[in-house]
Amino acid sequence: MMQRSTSTAEKLTCLPSARSDLPDTAGLLLDWYDRSHRVLPWRITPPMAKAGLRPDPYHIWLSEVMLQQTTVQAVKAYFAKFLALWPTVVDLAAADTEEVMKAWAGLGYYARARNLKKCAEAVASQHGGRFPDTEEGLKALPGIGDYTAAAIAAIAFNRQSAVLDGNVERVMSRLYRVETPVPAARPEMRRLVATVTPAERPGDFAQAMMDLGSTICTPRRPVCALCPINADCRAYKAGDQERFPVKLAKKAKPVRYGTAYVATDATGAVYLCKRGEKGLLGGMTEVPGTNWTTDPSDEQAPPFAGKAGPLWRDCGGIVHVFTHFELRLAVRHAEVERDAITANGWWEPRETLAVQALPTVMKKVIGKALPGSFAKTSRTR
Ligand code: ADE
Repeated sequence: MMQRSTSTAEKLTCLPSARSDLPDTAGLLLDWYDRSHRVLPWRITPPMAKAGLRPDPYHIWLSEVMLQQTTVQAVKAYFAKFLALWPTVVDLAAADTEEVMKAWAGLGYYARARNLKKCAEAVASQHGGRFPDTEEGLKALPGIGDYTAAAIAAIAFNRQSAVLDGNVERVMSRLYRVETPVPAARPEMRRLVATVTPAERPGDFAQAMMDLGSTICTPRRPVCALCPINADCRAYKAGDQERFPVKLAKKAKPVRYGTAYVATDATGAVYLCKRGEKGLLGGMTEVPGTNWTTDPSDEQAPPFAGKAGPLWRDCGGIVHVFTHFELRLAVRHAEVERDAITANGWWEPRETLAVQALPTVMKKVIGKALPGSFAKTSRTR
């Protein structure tokens, strides 16, 4: 354990400027992590690390990319599925892209899955199947940004990288009562994390911060009495920890409207087609629909030629929130003759619908028209 001197926060009247200012915060946090770490499938726990085991960089990369999409609990199943299908990064590089998309289905934001595949290909072809072991080297790979590079460098390669995700941001903002609102505060917070990250066990330190943020230093009702670094926490001392991280009032998202058409044939097969490669949900599978416009009264014709002009039943609407707008779709359903729809798609049997790489918004649409088509999916973006 690192030495504990007088409380760091007591010594500090301004933000810390040197790594040596904060020897004890890291030490206390690591001691807590040794006792209270979460056991996760991609993680090498402290006893295993002490026995000389290192995490597999492929596991760390895969879990980090997935964790940007959903909760730790939901990621566990996806992680197991990916490792069963593609045990190494070289296997993933050689996989069929469609298969990867299918395995990713339900996690949302398919650009990440595409980048996952591209990154695996780059590691396999340019790095002999071994991930680069520096932040710079990692950042040069497709889909790896500042956060993921720092996390892999620290956790897999024990580099002294400053790892800043949402959980860590919350911990740091409270520890130092950072008044700058996020996201503008990020550079300042990254400097703070760099300051507290120890040279010894930086990977465990990063994971300890994440565990602290998700189990004790939670967004609402943090359990400060159990926090191993509460003596150093400025917000705890001031009693206003829930005020941090400071956020600017959210701007309402713009809304777009459209209509989605779920056509089934006499066997229950559903008519599906592919979106264009470019743009939102590029290359993903969907049911035919109108353009998504900002005008709710914009009644557009269905985007397909229909010999019989089937009678579309109004099934109500769904709402799906994307990063930059909220989408409200009216959902219509009709059972039609197969040749009643002439577009660029195919009839998907009902039995195989659930294994299609359908984006969450389309699962909502089809589920609205044909309830029970999908098991409940995990939280997605
Ligand atoms: N959230 C993001 N990355 C994580 C990790 N490696 N362990 C636990 N929670 C995380």
